[in-house]
Amino acid sequence: MLLGVENLSVDLPVAGGFKRVVRDVSFALAEGQSLGMVGESGSGKTITALAIMGLLPEGALVSGAIRFEGRDLATLSEAQMQSLRGDRVAMVFQEPMSALNPLHRIGDQVAEPLRLHRGYSRACAGAEAVKLLERVRLRDPDRLARAYPFALSGGERQRAMIAMALACGPKLLIADEPTTALDVTVQAGILDLLAVLARESGLSILLVSHDLAVIARHCRRVLVMYGGAVMEEGPVEAVLGQALHPYTRALLAARPRLGAQRGARLAAIPGAYGAAAQGCAFAPRCPLALPACGREPPAVALDNGHIVRCVRVTSDGRLT
Ligand SMILES: Nc1ncnc2c1ncn2[C@@H]1O[C@H](COP(=O)(O)OP(=O)(O)OP(=O)(O)O)[C@@H](O)[C@H]1O
Ligand code: SF4
Ligand SMILES: [Mg+2]
Repeated sequence: MLLGVENLSVDLPVAGGFKRVVRDVSFALAEGQSLGMVGESGSGKTITALAIMGLLPEGALVSGAIRFEGRDLATLSEAQMQSLRGDRVAMVFQEPMSALNPLHRIGDQVAEPLRLHRGYSRACAGAEAVKLLERVRLRDPDRLARAYPFALSGGERQRAMIAMALACGPKLLIADEPTTALDVTVQAGILDLLAVLARESGLSILLVSHDLAVIARHCRRVLVMYGGAVMEEGPVEAVLGQALHPYTRALLAARPRLGAQRGARLAAIPGAYGAAAQGCAFAPRCPLALPACGREPPAVALDNGHIVRCVRVTSDGRLT
């Protein structure tokens, strides 16, 4: 197993104390596989990703284990995490402009991890950057390597970010809404590129997205998050094809209809966002809630690693 997250909880400092934003999250990602993470805004997707990267906000409290290539990342020093980041594990963010430095040429930025982690000279790293830009299917990579970020389109910047993330040949790529800011055709091209690169190099991808269609197309397995907790997980065809959890069902019912703009953010499901701090996080909005939902719902394990956390789901896979 490349990545194993076990009972991960994260508390962030807020005025007057701490707020639990990730609750007892466990999942595994095998080498060369892709795992999707879906859930409404505020459900804890980015914080989970940042916990894996060791990039949580100052003062965050973390419990549980994050095992990567057999090592528990919580036991690593900041220096050890730094040498892992951008080398074995890389992340692509939603907004490439926030991750690219506007004052440095694209080629220098793409080459930076090679200089940092591999000790490449400026000239060697520069030549490698051009090859990386070519690998992410950017036309005229020589010219782009010399350009500054403002001269690139949004899609080109995102490809440059991916090139930078892939520079050292990571085993795991965390892509947090990598295409949400882009238009639909550019988005599809970039996601297809990620899939090809993953196949070519055995890369594992954790893909965070609001878009169920994107997850269905690009991931083998999916986690559905609400209020910092995993509601349902398993193979995409089971979770999205035969959803059992009331929250997953609500998400699917709120999907943009055929003809609506693909890639639109998730339509709102009924009721304002609110998560219970105890028991099932979805209880404040669940039309099927029972008094028993005030306690932690059991994880019902069905075939193929399809797991549902709901008191109303039976062991033979029915929502009662
Ligand atoms: N720096 C921070 N300090 C305090 N709370 C934070 C901080 N960053 C995020 N949060 C809170 O943590 C919770 C989870 O946030 P997170 O960014 O992981 O959500 P998300 O699922 O990635 O949402 P989105 O889809 O909007 O990106 C939210 O309630 C958010 O308000
Ligand atoms: S555990 Fe209860 S509140 Fe949570 S989804 Fe199931 S029925 Fe709804
Ligand atoms: Mg996020």
